[in-house]
Order: sequence, then C-alpha cells, then structure tokens
Amino acid sequence: MSEIQTFAREFLRDPLNVASLVPSGGPLCRQAAAPLPETGDPVVLDLGAGTGQVTDVLQERLAGRGRHIAVEFNPRMAALLAERHPKVEVLCDDANAVVERLLAEGVRADLTVSGLPWLVTAPTTGPSIFEALARLAAPGGAVTQLAHAWIRFFPTAKQVQRNLEAAFEEVVVSRTVWANVPPAVVYVARRPRP
Ligand SMILES: C[S@@+](CC[C@H](N)C(=O)[O-])C[C@H]1O[C@@H](n2cnc3c(N)ncnc32)[C@H](O)[C@@H]1O
Repeated sequence: MSEIQTFAREFLRDPLNVASLVPSGGPLCRQAAAPLPETGDPVVLDLGAGTGQVTDVLQERLAGRGRHIAVEFNPRMAALLAERHPKVEVLCDDANAVVERLLAEGVRADLTVSGLPWLVTAPTTGPSIFEALARLAAPGGAVTQLAHAWIRFFPTAKQVQRNLEAAFEEVVVSRTVWANVPPAVVYVARRPRP
C-alpha cells in the first residue's frame, strides 16, 4: 500500500485526528521547513508527522546534522515512518506528552513543524500546545503550523491563530501554497512571549 493510500485509509478511520484526506505536498513541506538553520546541529521537532512528507524534507535539509524527533500517535503511520526513516527518533505518542517530557529533560527546539489538527491546536478546554512549544523553543527558534487555506476563516482556525499569537510575539502567515492539494498556508511563529 502506498503512503497516500495509507494516509487516506487512516483518515477514513479517524477523520478528526488525521484531519486531511491526503498528506502535504513537497512545496508546502519545504515552506514549513524553511526556518531550519542551515548550519550547526539543530534540534527539530516534527509533530503529527503522518506518513512522513515533512519528515522527508527535514531529513534532506538536515543531511545528517542535528537531532530530528518525529511524533505521531497513529501506530500504523508511526510504524511506516520509523521504517522509512531509521535515522529519525520516531515516537508513537501524544504530542502534548512528548513536549512536556522534552521540556523536563531540558531539550530546546530550533524548529518545530506542526501538522497537528484543531483538536490539539485549538482545544475546547485547557491551553493549546503552542504555550508549551513557546517554552520549548531555543533562542532564535521558530514554530511552523500547517493549515488548509480554505478553512482559515472558520472560527476554529481563527482560534488557532489567536493561540499562536498568545504564545508568540511574531506570527506571520505565508502566501497560499496553491501547488498543495488542497491549497494551504504556513503560520510561522517566533519570539515566545515571556
Ligand atoms: C493533517 S495530518 C498531517 C500529517 C503530515 N504532517 C503531513 O503534513 O502530511 C495530522 C497528523 O497528526 C496526527 N495527530 C493528531 N493528533 C495527534 C497528537 N495529539 N499527537 C501526535 N500526533 C497526532 C494524526 O494522526 C495525523 O497523522
């Protein structure tokens, strides 16, 4: 079964958590990975990694440097990810729990790329994951969040942006990536609020 078929099958099983019928395309993943430092050994967190499209781009850009942690709580997608990317630390777990663990271990992320759905980025109760990601960011670090363009003006999507702005002083929305199916944008957040 191809990655696209696996992704679509998992969407049909669990549409709210998978949140997309198809995985992100290359141009969108490259946009999300753009803030990755070109030099040194960055720590990169890849949240809601799915079948690994963002993971592919990050691995290509890292080219053996740094530390790459991918988090995916769907066991079938996590298994596929681990098989495709033996050099990536693949954790089959809830992103919130992993971020709290990394904070407790003193890890700081130069870049976090999140493909996480609304259930995590705009929860109806409690804080969004962005508050913890702001604390996890290394000095000069960034958080990028993928979003389908057509839902940007839905109340829940607006809440995602408000949650980002509550945690970061700078939140920039990219131009629409029309080459993606469906067209999408990337929020780029920097400078965690104290
Ligand atoms: C929209 S897909 C994005 C997949 C991939 N990053 C991409 O861009 O193609 C969202 C992914 O987040 C995963 N996910 C949802 N909630 C999660 C959570 N709390 N912790 C970890 N992964 C989660 C889903 O299983 C799904 O694979």
